[in-house]
Amino acid sequence: MPVDTINWKSGKVRFIDQTLLPGRVKFVSCDNVPRLWRAIKRLEIRGAPAIGIAGAFGVVLSANNSRAKSAERFLRDLRKDIKYLASSRPTAVNLFWALERMEKIANTNLHNGIGKTKNLLLKEALAVLRDDRKHCRAMARYGARLVRHGDTILTHCNAGGLATADYGTALGVLFESNRLNKHIKVYVDETRPLLQGSRLTAWELLHEGMDATLICDNMAASLMAKGKIDKIFVGADRIASNGDTANKIGTYSLAVLAKYHKVPFYVVAPASTFDLNIKTGRDIPIEERDASEVRTVMGREIAPRNIKVYNPAFDVTPEKLITAIITERGIFKRPYRKALEILRG
Ligand code: MRU
Repeated sequence: MPVDTINWKSGKVRFIDQTLLPGRVKFVSCDNVPRLWRAIKRLEIRGAPAIGIAGAFGVVLSANNSRAKSAERFLRDLRKDIKYLASSRPTAVNLFWALERMEKIANTNLHNGIGKTKNLLLKEALAVLRDDRKHCRAMARYGARLVRHGDTILTHCNAGGLATADYGTALGVLFESNRLNKHIKVYVDETRPLLQGSRLTAWELLHEGMDATLICDNMAASLMAKGKIDKIFVGADRIASNGDTANKIGTYSLAVLAKYHKVPFYVVAPASTFDLNIKTGRDIPIEERDASEVRTVMGREIAPRNIKVYNPAFDVTPEKLITAIITERGIFKRPYRKALEILRG
């Protein structure tokens, strides 16, 4: 992990502003919920697990800033902030998972007093962060078993240290393979419109001294046709019970290409990215973002100001295009019933 992406420091959330990377490494200290909401919305903090951790810390900020004297008032204010934080981004289920986990702590402990509940909320948020670190390492170890010496791997968006509190999900597998001296090569999709691949993944891989090559998103097919890609590893924002997976826009097209060219296509994600309440990918809410993200590149206009724009931030890859899903509890193949039984615990 090249950077301490998100953490709790001196009573504040400290995070790296990812919108400024790779040009500038700037840490932000945040002590209030509206600022944290904005950080998630603007993708200063991004990537499903990192958004979950931010949500958990957001609840701690809400509790610590509360002036409520009664338990009822405290809980009412907290729930209002939880609802507000939940409105920042709709697709990554880790946010809702973490907010629910925090609300449960408040609900079950408030009878012991507001002060005690505040301490327990911080303890829980730190546990969310610690668990994520542990899970990243476990996913990396499982995933690295699938990587052969000398493999060339394609990845999309950023599922690395910047998207988690540690090693990353898909990138964790690549970092671990590198640590095991598997001599892998990595192709990185730039990932339009917000360039998480070129700005963040390329930065992380170079930081680790790995063999990385940047491509535009529309070059992946040509590489696969030439037989230059052995495997694809991507992260996930929400996985339905049947295995359908929402991830950064462009993931689905890679999966279709992978099927055609017989390239194994792997999803790497922790249990907190599974949404067991929904059956298929049709039910996953897909965020649509502002038109300016497509009409511009890094603030520079590349299209007429009045051109209509379609800007979904994610797409859904049907489970039948996924070779396996790697979680902290093992590698699962379709049908995903066994995975669900294990994840339901
Ligand atoms: O819009 P973003 O940058 O938050 O989208 C992130 C992704 O799609 C990642 O691939 C996903 O969250 C997995 S992160 C380990």
